[in-house]
Amino acid sequence: MNGKVAFAVAFSLLAAFPMAALAQPQVLPQPRPVQPGEPQPVANAPALPPPLPSGPLPWSDKSLTADARADLVQAYMTRDEELTLVRGYFGVNYPWLPKGYSEAIRKALPGSAGYIPGIPRLGIPALSESDASLGVANGRHMRPGDQAVALPSSLLTAATWNGSLAYAGGAMIGAEARYKGFNVMLAGGVDLAREPRGGRTFEYAGEDPLLAGVTAGEAIRGIQDMHIISTIKHFALNDQETGRTTMSANIPDAAARESDLLAFEIAIEHGDPGAVMCSYNRINTVYACENDYLLNKVLKGDWGYKGFVLSDWGAVHSTVDAANNGLDQESSYSHDQEDYFGEALGQAVAAGTVPQVRLQDMVHRILRTMFAKGLIDQPVVKKPIDAKTDLDVAQRDAEEGIVLLKNAQDLLPITFLKRPSRRITIIGGYADLGVLSGSGSSQVIPIGDTQALEVLAGGAVQMGSDQKPQIPSGTLILDPPSPYATIRAQAPWARAVFYDGSEIAKATALARVSDVVIVFAQQWTSEGWDVPDLSLPGNQDELIAAVADANPRTIVVLENGGPVLMPWLNKVGAVLEAWYPGNRGANAIARILFGDVNPSGRLPITFPQNESQLPRPVIPGHYLAYSRIALEGAHSPFDIDYVEGANVGYKWFKAKKLTPLFPFGFGLSYTDFEFGGLSATGGATLNVSFDMRNIGKREGKATAQVYATPPGGVARLIGWSKVDLKPGETRRVTLAVDPRLLASFDTDAHLWRVAEGEYAVTLGESSAEVSAGASVHITASTIKP
Ligand code: NOJ
Repeated sequence: MNGKVAFAVAFSLLAAFPMAALAQPQVLPQPRPVQPGEPQPVANAPALPPPLPSGPLPWSDKSLTADARADLVQAYMTRDEELTLVRGYFGVNYPWLPKGYSEAIRKALPGSAGYIPGIPRLGIPALSESDASLGVANGRHMRPGDQAVALPSSLLTAATWNGSLAYAGGAMIGAEARYKGFNVMLAGGVDLAREPRGGRTFEYAGEDPLLAGVTAGEAIRGIQDMHIISTIKHFALNDQETGRTTMSANIPDAAARESDLLAFEIAIEHGDPGAVMCSYNRINTVYACENDYLLNKVLKGDWGYKGFVLSDWGAVHSTVDAANNGLDQESSYSHDQEDYFGEALGQAVAAGTVPQVRLQDMVHRILRTMFAKGLIDQPVVKKPIDAKTDLDVAQRDAEEGIVLLKNAQDLLPITFLKRPSRRITIIGGYADLGVLSGSGSSQVIPIGDTQALEVLAGGAVQMGSDQKPQIPSGTLILDPPSPYATIRAQAPWARAVFYDGSEIAKATALARVSDVVIVFAQQWTSEGWDVPDLSLPGNQDELIAAVADANPRTIVVLENGGPVLMPWLNKVGAVLEAWYPGNRGANAIARILFGDVNPSGRLPITFPQNESQLPRPVIPGHYLAYSRIALEGAHSPFDIDYVEGANVGYKWFKAKKLTPLFPFGFGLSYTDFEFGGLSATGGATLNVSFDMRNIGKREGKATAQVYATPPGGVARLIGWSKVDLKPGETRRVTLAVDPRLLASFDTDAHLWRVAEGEYAVTLGESSAEVSAGASVHITASTIKP
């Protein structure tokens, strides 16, 4: 079914929370004596509200630290108020929600992913949460008519290797969120792409901890500079969708710290997210949201994290264990099996199984974060978004993250055609309607005349437990404008025709009479399920091969969630990896195809030649992946032993001496670069300097990547530089290397250890290309985690 749906944007006013502004000397509350017949309050937290001082509230003093301000509020809080802040609601009134629910969320922003009531008496606003990986989401169209700018996928943003674009995207999301009334963004996806078939690979920032950490951290920083909270998620090792709510990611501490946890650590350092969302899965058999190791030891202990931990929706499994092991807020209790942080938590605190100080710590973390991020001093106020400015942000991102993978005989940019009545045939991929987006809770309803298609997921149909083929259906959203429209606008001199590609014979007939053919190929992915394999679904491979046989001037534009196989690669003239390019993706594609933009994206993820090259040729637990059972997570629990350890993606390929289809870091340009003059100085720290030179004929952005191989280890990315160079221009760059990137984690000694020895340092255009190399002696050192 193919339906055109136009959405209108609706805005309403949000009540701003009043806050007395003036500072005054701190007045500590005197708990009101318990009156005869009133319940005895549990130690310290009064059952009845202590009277507030007259005049400005003590915590309105902006000169105090966030911690001091939170302490002041807490001194006036009742036990019920404390419990109010640690338990959230789904901000949507679905019929299946518990009785009395609608009354509780009456004040929620309609269609919010999560809502935590505020405490108006104390000037504490509600937390209004929206998903926000790629824009202010409106999954399942929960807020009818509410559109937002759809950024490209986070994987595309990682492919820009340009943290400032991630920051700009985050700031754009933060601004739109404020204008829509949200003050918490469920953003910052940074799970490493251990599973290239993963349904949410598009929401994450690739396979390398440094690149992913910087990309996600900068996006978070951008969001929070708009005075709202961003999460980082999903903590941790939620690296596949299959069985995501039951599977256990089994991995030794050291390997986790050097890979997935390092990505979180770096992102937290860059972005200082106000909240961490613990994930659905188990880690070494213990659920993430009640995982003492992950939440108390690593996050709050080793990393000194001061924000709060909120659960993923339905990821809580206990009251006492969850609270004591580090969970600070149950996000949407109606998604959990039980109301764990409701009455049950109050009882546990009264019984002392959850210490009172722990509840106060939970509350403190939430309140201090609200002060620290500006939610109290700069409350959100609804107003129309600035779509034009925001669309430009999305376009700049797309223009730098689209990767040119092949360009035989300089087929691109399409300049040779600049003569009247040349024929361009555009085939497939709904290119007459829009560009593909990934699905799930991150789904944005984009600006413009969007297209929503009810689809069945492509690929192999698996048998469900009842032996009937069960295929997840869903709504696939195509972001406007359409590539067909932008290509026509870009090449008004040409005769551009579109054909949907449904009949291969017809497509080849058109290709034969065309000067150039552009085939749009798609792989739709979504939260909740993984694709069965890396092949393009349906008959797209066959279509591309046949069209390329008919006309070697065939350009393939890929719109996909993660890596795909390309059995037709040798036949086609050019391949442009456009990922899910967002609300101005079609403009970016057209400008790259015709040379207004010189492509500068580099792969943030390895493209394998086939699934047998992966650590797990078949996705564990995938036998049920296409059944509803698997989608809803009622999979029987199973374990995945992450045998590759810290060798995720290209590190696995290097360790196993495998040659991928396209290596991590790869990408072409319309100009040529030369990197050299490498000097690496060792000792206690590593500093690397090198020259980047444009030896081609047009301006372009080069991305020089530096990898280091510790003695007996595997090469890892230790830094990069992306610079814009005019023809003939040379730039010398110096990078100071974070010693953790050279180190291994010593679990027994509980520290990072840099081994003494000779480290191979290489400079190149990708993880597989070496422009220059050096060997440098590094002395032994240790770093506290
Ligand atoms: C579940 C998803 O895993 C998470 O990313 C999202 O933020 C929540 N649902 C809320 O929609």
